[in-house]
Amino acid sequence: MVILGLFGPGPNPSAALLIDGEIISWAEEERFNRIKTAPNSLPIKSTKWCLEYAGLTLDDVDQIAYGWDSPSYITETKKFFLSQPKEFFDSSSYNHLQTELNLNLYHPDRIKYQLQLGLGSLSVNRKLPEIVFLKHHECHAASAFCSSGYSEGNVISIDGSGEEVSTLLCYASNNKIEVIKSFKLPDTLGGFYATFTEFLGFRPYHDEGKVMGLASYGKYQEELQNKLDKFIPFDPDTGDFSINPKLRYIGDHTYGGRYTDEFVEIFGTPRGNESAIDGPYADIAYAIQYRLENIVKSLAEWLYKETGSRKLCLAGGVAMNCVMNGHLAEMDFVDNIYVQPASADNGVSLGAAQLLNMQAGLQNKNMAHAYWGPEYSDDLIIKALNESKLRYKKSKNICNEIARKINEGKIVGWFQGRLEVGARALGNRSILASPLIKDMQDKINLEVKHRENWRPFCPSMKEEVYEKYMDSSADSPYMIMAFPVREEFRSIIPAVVHVDGTARPQAVSKKYNSRFWGLLDEFEKLTGHAVLINSSFNIQGEPIVCSPSDALRTFGATGLDILAIGDFIVEK
Ligand SMILES: [Fe+2]
Repeated sequence: MVILGLFGPGPNPSAALLIDGEIISWAEEERFNRIKTAPNSLPIKSTKWCLEYAGLTLDDVDQIAYGWDSPSYITETKKFFLSQPKEFFDSSSYNHLQTELNLNLYHPDRIKYQLQLGLGSLSVNRKLPEIVFLKHHECHAASAFCSSGYSEGNVISIDGSGEEVSTLLCYASNNKIEVIKSFKLPDTLGGFYATFTEFLGFRPYHDEGKVMGLASYGKYQEELQNKLDKFIPFDPDTGDFSINPKLRYIGDHTYGGRYTDEFVEIFGTPRGNESAIDGPYADIAYAIQYRLENIVKSLAEWLYKETGSRKLCLAGGVAMNCVMNGHLAEMDFVDNIYVQPASADNGVSLGAAQLLNMQAGLQNKNMAHAYWGPEYSDDLIIKALNESKLRYKKSKNICNEIARKINEGKIVGWFQGRLEVGARALGNRSILASPLIKDMQDKINLEVKHRENWRPFCPSMKEEVYEKYMDSSADSPYMIMAFPVREEFRSIIPAVVHVDGTARPQAVSKKYNSRFWGLLDEFEKLTGHAVLINSSFNIQGEPIVCSPSDALRTFGATGLDILAIGDFIVEK
């Protein structure tokens, strides 16, 4: 059974190829079209690559699984919106949704037409396989459960919205995902966080991670929780929540698109994006992070009481919140947690394919790692290096040589093997440096990444030493959960410890990434610590590099000292 999973028009469109339940190729469109999150695109280039990698054409695909229920969107979802109080449609937010609906962005005929235009040449008769449209949140849920390897478990999917649904609570077992409860618009946790992302001067549905990072600089204030009771009250016993439409939708929107003037009367002046991040705004970030975590903990506990399962799977854009995930992992009703590393809509293509495979009564194989994108042969790397006219050399032992350079304080672009899927670089398209050097965080932020100096970096470490540094026993191969760093190591690896004493670690397995593990091993031989700073190989505003020429361009344009690409080394 060959299934092509697709999702678009975005943000974060992607394509995934599943053969007999096994992931063959999977990549985000942004990595190919080089536009961050590739908004409003269909996954055309990524689909072409997925098929080419497998040596297949469109005629070999049995079905396309599409991660949005387009036929129901233009009928049932439209009915749902029209059944909402009329005032919602007078506000700018709902007009936006209505406009989208009117434009038929997700109309099944439009999707088919665009796919036909983009992919038709991959079929001898220019014929698309049958397209099966699937519910967005069920695809998110499948992307977590089917990848986890669990035989049963609770699954929670949370995002802004997919069709009219914003949150889905499920129980999965016996090759089936059963929906236990759902929340619909206008009640949305992703929308709640996006409102404050905008209020705090960042890009909503884009910069939520910055708000999460900022929260660590704030402190708890009872008064802000009382104010949040007016905006997003919730029942601690069930997690049931609602959004007060008068603060988000209904009323004048003089200051922002996602909050009303009445909201501003309660929460005060919105932060301009150039203002300081400390003081009251950090406290607001703390307050909303705290509220999100309390709601989701309550939802998870309620679900546990309903099903009795002590396994928890998470997906949906809100599951990118690694601080929340880390706290969920530590709850006493959670024995095992799996968070899909491509929790945002980049994971929906895979989830759609896995869900369709499951519905056909077939088994999905678990997702053992995240390296499902393109890789490049030595010939292609040499071709790009020659075109760049940079001087390069071939290393006899790249892990040893680069570990020594990193220990000398160099910042390295590390390009190896197959591209990772998801927002985090996991050791194949990474910027690496020593975590033992105190000012390294500032240096990389200013010289390489060109981003805010208060944003933390993450550590990658050999899985064998994970519990030596981290105060957690949860599996953490994907940098998707934050945990406390053990006290005694916080001053030893300061560059990867956030202001609140936590880190978002990647435990690196020799089995799934032997070269990166080997580099960590060499660094350990030199320093006694198998830990490196690992940041994604891109600069702010650009997708992670995909090809050798992307890597060379970013190397040339930033303060990177060295590029290690395959077995080759380029030094400035
Ligand atoms: Fe989503």
